[in-house]
Amino acid sequence: MRLPADVPVVDGIPYARGGRDELRTRVCDLLADGDVDAARTALLADADDWWTEPAPPPQQLARVPAATTLREAMELLGMGRVGDYFAHRWSDPTHLAGLALLQQHWPGGRPVVDVACGIGTHLRELARRGCTDLVGSDVVWAKLWLARRFVCPEARYVCADVAAGPDLGTDLGTDLGVARPAYVMCHDAFYFFRDKPAAARAMRALAGPGGTVVVGHAHVADRVSAGEPLPPDAYADLLRDPDGGAEPLLYDDAELTAALVERRPPRPAAAADLAGSEAIALVAGDPRGPAPADLGEPLGPLAPNPLYADGRLVWPSERYAREYGPRSPLPETWPDPLPADAARRRILVDLPERW
Ligand SMILES: C[S@@+](CC[C@H](N)C(=O)[O-])C[C@H]1O[C@@H](n2cnc3c(N)ncnc32)[C@H](O)[C@@H]1O
Repeated sequence: MRLPADVPVVDGIPYARGGRDELRTRVCDLLADGDVDAARTALLADADDWWTEPAPPPQQLARVPAATTLREAMELLGMGRVGDYFAHRWSDPTHLAGLALLQQHWPGGRPVVDVACGIGTHLRELARRGCTDLVGSDVVWAKLWLARRFVCPEARYVCADVAAGPDLGTDLGTDLGVARPAYVMCHDAFYFFRDKPAAARAMRALAGPGGTVVVGHAHVADRVSAGEPLPPDAYADLLRDPDGGAEPLLYDDAELTAALVERRPPRPAAAADLAGSEAIALVAGDPRGPAPADLGEPLGPLAPNPLYADGRLVWPSERYAREYGPRSPLPETWPDPLPADAARRRILVDLPERW
């Protein structure tokens, strides 16, 4: 990886977020003084523009590297509802919809860039299923730190804003050594981007000619989360290759989740038929082919889903229940005996080793 001198690197993760010159300079100065711990603490305090809580005090953030589990680290980072969401990502219907997309449009041997990868949940699945050239990017450095430490150490990471400079699609992509054609994915995040045309341009450039851009769980009508949703045809317009090529494939997100649980290929739909969907997915460029393995069956070792307490399904919060409850394949009570599809429905889950 060759990066410009003004992009500081701490714990192997470059901080190239646009619009944060003051923090970037401060971290470079701390590194020049040899104070890596203070540089890390400064980066761990940086959040995305949608986050409304204040950062925890520096003394608390300084304890994050000593955390022995993902959840302990998220607690110290003060991640609140976002921590709940990431802790239980393995069984939520939105994550399963992302797996269904990968199942039907598998990157194969192509390099993969997961834009807005969060804590690297999908990257972990890709790494465990044999993909070797993986890059994760997110605007929040702390999430990449969690990904590298607890979820998918096999990937390379870069902190960058996909819709602001330096351009992930050209300069940074080259600096990171992403070969083209690439498979660029962005799950449950595209609707957050304020400058969606810039994000779509960067993702297409990163994929290169003959590459693939997959946008999963793009909100059409937003009931719970923050963000700025668009109608299906507007998403399709943004992702369509301006130089021609095939129309993007579109899916209803609920159909993707159902297809994974029912072990069948998802049915694509026309934009006009998706106007009433909560969220959709789009595949632009080379659609690739189905995965050789069944991503519906999680890889072991499997553990009882920690959302069950005393035999009952307990959602982490009211908000979580509203967002994921209606589409969840989890039963209200722990089934005894376990059904044959317990793992497929994520009653049993494959948590990271240091969950
Ligand atoms: C709902 S999470 C999804 C994370 C991950 N893709 C997943 O499916 O688990 C949305 C992510 O988008 C990231 N994000 C928001 N705006 C961004 C931007 N402009 N550039 C890059 N990442 C961004 C957030 O930090 C967050 O990790």
